[in-house]
Amino acid sequence: MHEFSYKDNVLYCEDVPINDIVKEYPTPFYLYSYKTLVDHFNKIKKAFSELDPLICFSMKSNSNMSVCKALVNEGAGLDIVSGGELYKALKVGCPPENIVYASVGKKEEEIEAAIRKNILFFNVESVPELIMIDTVARRLKKKPNVALRLNPDVKADTHEYITTGTKEKKFGIDFKSAEDIFDNANKYSNVYLKGIHLHIGSQITETGPFVEAISRTLDFIDRSNIEIEWMNIGGGFGIVYGREKARTADEFAAAIVPLFKDKRYRLILEPGRFIAGNAGALVCRVLYVKATAAGKNFAIVDAGMSDLIRPSLYEAYHEVLPVVRLKSKLLKYDVVGPICESGDYLALDREFPELVAEEYLAVMSAGAYGYVMSSNYNSRPRPAELMVVNGDVRVIRTPETYKDLLRGEKMIKEFK
Ligand code: LLP
Repeated sequence: MHEFSYKDNVLYCEDVPINDIVKEYPTPFYLYSYKTLVDHFNKIKKAFSELDPLICFSMKSNSNMSVCKALVNEGAGLDIVSGGELYKALKVGCPPENIVYASVGKKEEEIEAAIRKNILFFNVESVPELIMIDTVARRLKKKPNVALRLNPDVKADTHEYITTGTKEKKFGIDFKSAEDIFDNANKYSNVYLKGIHLHIGSQITETGPFVEAISRTLDFIDRSNIEIEWMNIGGGFGIVYGREKARTADEFAAAIVPLFKDKRYRLILEPGRFIAGNAGALVCRVLYVKATAAGKNFAIVDAGMSDLIRPSLYEAYHEVLPVVRLKSKLLKYDVVGPICESGDYLALDREFPELVAEEYLAVMSAGAYGYVMSSNYNSRPRPAELMVVNGDVRVIRTPETYKDLLRGEKMIKEFK
């Protein structure tokens, strides 16, 4: 459930008509509902309350400071994947003891910064990385917590690019190698090896893959007599984009919680999309409507793959809704952006009441992996981000300007 809905054929974000917002803020812009964001976080928290997990919002899905701050205020920790996310996580006031750090490619200086800040966990993805963390820790005379990210070799039914838990992927450590690491834990005397981490993929709409991955991992831990205090089961809870039937937080919890009944691990979750995905939309304006000789209708809008790359990159489906729903005849359209690539589309072959130039469309479920994956391709300034908070529209990121496009660039004036 989310807070974008029609009243009298006008699309609202909470109790604000988007129709009014477009009068004040030029499109395209991302628009978030604070209420939806916080509701989704609290749904997970409540569903898993029996295990009292630390819920670390996966910042990679949406690292806007207001989005993160809203969640940190509710008690969320943060799941980070880079020095940049560590920097932002601390800026929004997330206590370091609620920060967990994953990534197959942590650099030495990123590791050092995270050790210095005393984060809760490094989720380690390889032996060389473990050696690096151990070495830096020794140098700093610190002893950070480390969780091994296991690769349970479980296939989740999601897009190939966002499946991570099968053995041919770059992520995690296989059970056998993990056992060797635990057996030789004394080699890594500058870290506390006391957690296991899993993350099998993203946009997983069934409970089965989670149950399988966790069960396999718990069996492995028992079999190998491994002693851990923390278990991090990652993110990946899928959401409804349009056609799929996703699970509720209660349904995910009903499948997962019983697996931990007789365990005494502290649990960590790292949801991103489940919290932010349906809390945001990308609002854009129809520039032109073009009918071709081949019988196709294109609605050309002022947002494109530089603003939201998911349709182009993953052939992802995002529902597109007219901000004002007119009662005209239904026609089929491709909703496309202004970028010079045929793959630049937001939606294909969708039925709308006849679209006209100057009307506004909302590309739904764009709150996760939307703005964070945007770019300046075609020298397009990135859009603004707005958030409806208790009836007010708040600017949480101003739109980039042309001047921003030059930031950091140096023009060689004379090539001698
Ligand atoms: N934890 C780890 C270690 C991850 O790699 C990810 C996402 C998450 C948590 C959060 O997963 P979520 O709960 O959001 O599914 N750009 C893609 C998604 C990439 C996901 C990468 N890892 C997309 O737009 O679908």
